[in-house]
Amino acid sequence: MRKDEIIEVTIESCGMEGEGVARLNGEVVFINGALIGEKIRAQVTEVKKNFSRAKVIKVIEASSHRIQPLCPIFFRCGGCDMQHVDYNYSLEVKKANIKNCIDRACKIDCVVNDVVVGGKKFGYRNKEQIPIKKVDGKAVAGFYKQNSHIFVPFVKSENKELGDCPLHDGEMQLFIDAIVAFINKEKISTYDEKSNTGLIRHIVIRRVNKTFSICIVINGTKIPSVDKLIDSLKTINIPFNLYVSQNLKMTNVILGDKLECVYGDEKIEGEALGVKFSVNPYSFLQINDEIRDKIYTQVCDELEKEDAPVVLDLYSGIGILSNVMAKHAKKVIGIEIVKEAVDDANKLAKINGNSNIENICDDVAKALPGVVKKLSNEKTFVVIDPPRKGCDDKVLQSIVEANPNRIIYISCNPATLARDLATLTNYYVIDSITPYDMFPQTKHVETVCLLTKK
Ligand SMILES: C[S@@+](CC[C@H](N)C(=O)[O-])C[C@H]1O[C@@H](n2cnc3c(N)ncnc32)[C@H](O)[C@@H]1O
Repeated sequence: MRKDEIIEVTIESCGMEGEGVARLNGEVVFINGALIGEKIRAQVTEVKKNFSRAKVIKVIEASSHRIQPLCPIFFRCGGCDMQHVDYNYSLEVKKANIKNCIDRACKIDCVVNDVVVGGKKFGYRNKEQIPIKKVDGKAVAGFYKQNSHIFVPFVKSENKELGDCPLHDGEMQLFIDAIVAFINKEKISTYDEKSNTGLIRHIVIRRVNKTFSICIVINGTKIPSVDKLIDSLKTINIPFNLYVSQNLKMTNVILGDKLECVYGDEKIEGEALGVKFSVNPYSFLQINDEIRDKIYTQVCDELEKEDAPVVLDLYSGIGILSNVMAKHAKKVIGIEIVKEAVDDANKLAKINGNSNIENICDDVAKALPGVVKKLSNEKTFVVIDPPRKGCDDKVLQSIVEANPNRIIYISCNPATLARDLATLTNYYVIDSITPYDMFPQTKHVETVCLLTKK
């Protein structure tokens, strides 16, 4: 295959990222957005030693699973990958991807349960990070096209229940619209990343129960006439607080180092499964509340079957899960690398009256060996919820040394889950693998894998 060559192929299988995979004269080509069985005309965009990539020019014969995407900019934005397939099919693709990854890495024929779904297929995201740019002299909200700095403005949604990005809801959109209208009315500049000039960079907005945390990221020290903005947001009649984050650097990192609360409380209080928590714009929270609760409930159901062991909550974030687990455990030890998250986790343990939680601020790989040594006479239960890159080898070795009866691995990346299971299954058997549709309309999936000592 040559770059820019126009090819016609039939899609044979689905790749790890949900892309269509075809072969032409023995050469493998990955085509984003193409479905199994489809005949596709495509243009080659990249040629590598062992494979090529191509983009769809025309679907010559469409799959019966292909549907019209809800979002008018779906094919240009790239924030979602699965709006063009029927929902049940997207679940089958995710389930098959998990099975393929684990079977290949662990050399087994595993059973993957059906994907657990929530009530919302759209409008489920509790947080968005939205760049603001000027288009034809007017400030507009949008997204960056996937893996690029190409700005794609939103198109107004006709469905008032959903936002202009249908992954967030209509109430979140009211705040976004009011902020954009204010920027235009006050003729405030927007950020240009090439020249590092202009004021407004991003809106980072999050719903915590019924309150919105709104953070406007600026390349400057203050927003002119911010009181007018606050007055305008108040007319929406939904509780909110407003922060201004100063980010003066030429960087892809969205939030700056300095954060000021200009309206409402410094922290927003929330509740999940009876655990009270408080967060600021830096705090990590799972993106889909309903699926988070389902996963945490499964973890607790499993923990309840044990005889109140010491729980190691590895990669514990702000500690909501630690607190949910605390009443079924002798002690919970959370390990988390971000200091602010650990500060939050300590407060959470206090406000929820859980004196049996200890939070350690460190890299799991560094802290775990010492923790495991001290627990040599204790029954342990390990919960792992790492970032996409999965666990360091040292972490897996320390977990094995802790010798827990049960391990629960929560993963947002089937490939690294499978790699880590290849090590853990030397000592543990897989009891169950359950996918959760935390991110509908995208290729992403959360997986909960239960393991028991051999
Ligand atoms: C997927 S989140 C899970 C958070 C938490 N379990 C929850 O459900 O909200 C992963 C967490 O791991 C933390 N983290 C990333 N690398 C780490 C490391 N090397 N050691 C400890 N924590 C780490 C991140 O800051 C993040 O809070």
